[in-house]
Amino acid sequence: MIAELTRPTPALETRNSKDGAKLLAGKVCLVTGGSRGIGRAIVTALAEAGADVAFTYQNSREQAVNLAETLKAQEDIHCRAYQANVASAEEMQEVVKDVIAEFGPITILVNNAGINRDKSFLKMTKAMWDEVMRVNLDGVFSATQLVVQYMLESGWGRIINISSIVGQTGNYGQTNYAATKGALISFTASLARELARKGVTVNAVAPGFIETDMVSGMPEAALAQVKAMTPVGRLGKPEEVADAVVFLASPRSGYVTGQVLAVNGGMYM
Ligand code: NAI
Repeated sequence: MIAELTRPTPALETRNSKDGAKLLAGKVCLVTGGSRGIGRAIVTALAEAGADVAFTYQNSREQAVNLAETLKAQEDIHCRAYQANVASAEEMQEVVKDVIAEFGPITILVNNAGINRDKSFLKMTKAMWDEVMRVNLDGVFSATQLVVQYMLESGWGRIINISSIVGQTGNYGQTNYAATKGALISFTASLARELARKGVTVNAVAPGFIETDMVSGMPEAALAQVKAMTPVGRLGKPEEVADAVVFLASPRSGYVTGQVLAVNGGMYM
């Protein structure tokens, strides 16, 4: 029994080796919406873990180019920014083609790009509903369909969907956003079942309230209330979400699939 337990598992054998090889060396990642906030922290953490990282941005060209240049200035880091609206299947197709030409087949996908258009349901317009669906759900559909074939050909892959605590609990004024983030959780579980035997895991990360542009617009009183409702007593940092993503992207998480990893300071448990 003890011999059984101490025998190295395939996942353990692929941990950082004694020769100092990085956890994600040789892996090619695509991160959607990587220019700022949580996406930016994810791009940085994946690159620092040794992966080649391509990321998309929509409007923040300067921030995106700066990030790629800053990372590339570090030894052994390969990183590039690509402009694309994730809601456009055509633009995403072009990006995936270019990334593969530059870096090779993508085997790690982080579906991070997301937007909110908040209003109480009675005041919500169909345009606000549709816009959030197009980015938060259609964007995930296109990116995932475009890259999954390369993971299947490689016999290894990681898909990580950035959901939200709001997809688990709901939130006043966010019926559209919460619907997409809840849908990502069931999308994750369903796709995980389809791909589990093929070496590809699919997981979600559900951040709580994280210090980014998305929450900086919240009124002070609302932020104070959020902190009071969070057992850890503060907002989260983008880097704390990125650490969870690196784990799920790595060979160490080979037996974890279809899960939602909550990074929320205990706000929902
Ligand atoms: P952010 O607003 O700071 O960044 C959003 C990113 O998505 C940006 O890089 C932006 O360029 C990109 N993006 C937006 N629309 C796009 C489009 N049509 N095409 C391509 N890229 C697009 O937001 P933040 O906070 O960094 O959020 C990142 C993800 O984390 C989102 O999916 C969000 O829903 C999720 N999240 C954020 C939380 C927070 O407290 N900040 C909490 C829970 C989830």
